[in-house]
Amino acid sequence: MKRAVITGIGHAVPPRILSNADLERMVATSDEWITQRTGIRERHVLSEGENCIDLCIESSQKAIASAGIAPESIDLVIVATVSADRVFPSTACVLQHALGIPGAGAYDLGAACAGFIFSVGTAAAMIESGQCNTILVVGVDVLSRFIDYTDRSTCVLFGDGAGAVIMQAMENTDRGVIGTVYRSDGGGADFIAVEAGGSRHPMTNEGSCNFNPHIVMAGSETYRFAVNAMGDACLSVIEKTGVNVEDIDLFVPHQANLRIIRSAQQRLGLPDDKVFVNVEKYGNTSAGSIPLALSEAVEQGRLKQGMNVLTVGFGAGLTWGANLIKW
Ligand code: ACO
Repeated sequence: MKRAVITGIGHAVPPRILSNADLERMVATSDEWITQRTGIRERHVLSEGENCIDLCIESSQKAIASAGIAPESIDLVIVATVSADRVFPSTACVLQHALGIPGAGAYDLGAACAGFIFSVGTAAAMIESGQCNTILVVGVDVLSRFIDYTDRSTCVLFGDGAGAVIMQAMENTDRGVIGTVYRSDGGGADFIAVEAGGSRHPMTNEGSCNFNPHIVMAGSETYRFAVNAMGDACLSVIEKTGVNVEDIDLFVPHQANLRIIRSAQQRLGLPDDKVFVNVEKYGNTSAGSIPLALSEAVEQGRLKQGMNVLTVGFGAGLTWGANLIKW
């Protein structure tokens, strides 16, 4: 049987750092409030002239180099994002061209902060069914471009970032994606949304419309949903795959809020050394968050070949899900 093995990984963030001290000068907030309620100390945000595609290219090139493959061997590019450079064409098509792989199919997958989870599951199914051999999956979001920096309830939470993986078909191995759980609930569509710029409320010729172009979020409803969703997705993928909680070597949850991460950790009964956290440096980078964390875990030697890694994400949609991967 063919398995979908992650053979390369890389990440990219824009150089500009927005610290809690910077935000204190912009809105009525404090480093103490942000740190206590979210665990975030700073986040990276795009500067003028930098775009989503730049993070895609940098993280993809690192993933390709770390896999040691020729770019032409990639037959599919999936970019998980809700903050593409344009409404269309997809970021994946622009990335495919930039990487010089004209034969590869390319499309974006929009599932907000669960986008990378859904994309890895989809790519694994494509490989296991024999439709593709080598897939580039990128998780990227640049939500700073949709933030109202006078709204303290959202501007402290989000940062920009990307992570990319190369997934390759392999036989006679127990490595690969062991299982994925996909969950959605459109009943919560209004919990986190950007209204303007879609086809319902398009931008006008003057470049504006009467609807809010920024992220609007029901914070405490989203918090309650997140805590339940993390537990549900983790326990479901554990049950589905038959892997015991004790056999999980590393837990890499979506990095939205340290309190949400700790509640999922408690529900699973995992010790701190099995939980990867970098939310303090990047904030919530949406679809970029999980691959960015996986990439740093590899860099730091905390994620090694043969380990069982559990990833879990939740976000707008509502969407949530988990992957269990033998690295
Ligand atoms: N600085 C200071 N005070 C603040 C700030 C801030 N940045 N933001 C809110 N407050 C105030 C509120 O106004 C409120 O004041 P009040 O009591 O006088 O009304 C008080 O702090 C408490 O507000 P709460 O919303 O109850 O604070 P809570 O502890 O719930 O934390 C938070 C808010 C951090 C937003 C939390 O609800 C959360 O993390 N929610 C989940 C968000 C999330 O993870 N989204 C991910 C999905 S995003 C995607 O998919 C794209």
